[in-house]
Amino acid sequence: MKILFVGDVVGSPGREMITEYLPKLKSKYRPELTIVNGENAAGGRGITEKIYKQFLNDGANAVTLGNHSWDNKDVFEFIDAAKSIVRPGNFPKGTPGTGLTFVKSGGVEAAVISLQGRTFLPAIDCPFETAEELINQAKNKTNIIFVDFHAEATSEKQAMGWFLDGKVTAVIGTHTHVQTADNRILPNGTAYLTDVGMTGPYDGILGMERGAVIKRFLTSLPVRFEVPKDGRKQLSACLIDVDNKTGKARKIDTLLINDDHLFIAE
Ligand SMILES: [Fe+2]
Repeated sequence: MKILFVGDVVGSPGREMITEYLPKLKSKYRPELTIVNGENAAGGRGITEKIYKQFLNDGANAVTLGNHSWDNKDVFEFIDAAKSIVRPGNFPKGTPGTGLTFVKSGGVEAAVISLQGRTFLPAIDCPFETAEELINQAKNKTNIIFVDFHAEATSEKQAMGWFLDGKVTAVIGTHTHVQTADNRILPNGTAYLTDVGMTGPYDGILGMERGAVIKRFLTSLPVRFEVPKDGRKQLSACLIDVDNKTGKARKIDTLLINDDHLFIAE
């Protein structure tokens, strides 16, 4: 099977890119499983039920979250009932939602796991221990296991990739919003990418209005970051080819759509 994963959708520019390009990407690459990270989808902070449903309408089979999971209070109204959304599984016990869900598509069942790093991010439970717990649960049902590791530090992401090599289909990093060029298949068959990159404003800084970010660096004063409403946009994603029987990855390619990397429909 093929898995298409689209990185951190930021605000309305990101959502517009999903609505415009997800159908085009799906008809070009024919992925059985499409996953979108939506933790910045509502104005850059959190997600709402309406946005979650729009992602599913646009062609996503599952949505992953991250450190901004709770920033839009609407999430508490729907996350427990929503079947196709995961928040980091290593949030403390008793947190709403789940870190593992199963998606059946094209007759194949896959597990989708979300985890969050602890380096330069709030202190939460150990993502490595939680990974083992969730993978053991997932293995009862399927060998195809996709992990979105939402983390800041490249070293922590690489550590997770090597820790899970051979145990899962893919460990794909999110959160830092800039696509990395280290897509590879690790020796025991796990697809790895330090960061898939973000989907939204192309001329901002990590998706936020750049003037405010520059002012913050110049003055160290508190500034409110907003998602720019107008301007050029981009989409960042990766495509993983998977052996259905073993759950091992055969190939991982990165995808980038912006004015410097034009989308070519086939
Ligand atoms: Fe994040």
